[in-house]
Amino acid sequence: MTDTDYPLLESQFVAIAGDEQDALANSSNFVALLYNALDDINWLGIYVLRGDELVLGPFQGKPACVRIPVGNGVCGAAAATLQTQRVPDVHAFPGHIVCDADSRSEIVVPLLVDDKLVGVLDIDSPSLDRFSAADQEGIESLCGAFCRVLSSAPGFI
Ligand code: SME
Repeated sequence: MTDTDYPLLESQFVAIAGDEQDALANSSNFVALLYNALDDINWLGIYVLRGDELVLGPFQGKPACVRIPVGNGVCGAAAATLQTQRVPDVHAFPGHIVCDADSRSEIVVPLLVDDKLVGVLDIDSPSLDRFSAADQEGIESLCGAFCRVLSSAPGFI
């Protein structure tokens, strides 16, 4: 179930980014826009690929673990497979990394700029099975718009 207007959010993000070229500023606004628009979430942020690790970037929510090796946890699985990980129950995901004990379900979308992995978007919810297939589609589309903005503003974070 989703009542989020993802196309509206996408147009809002494109308008906010405008012709701004600073990737950190655009990323921070992307995270803030989504965090305030999505219901029933407790953490939303970006992990940036640095070498073979994901390093904490702009986020909203409680302080989180800073470094996640590619392949570890839900974020590392998304980075390793380049596939969105939609996890209805984080307790059932082998290797899930607990950052906020309130989190019960999670979605992680790989961020690809010009076909290259630059990081992941991670969203946590305190509710089981919060993210539907429609949410996944909407969030992936938003991430596509975000990556196109990054593509025209080099030097991602
Ligand atoms: N749960 C994630 C770690 C990041 S936090 O949720 C912010 C994972 O298993 O990769």
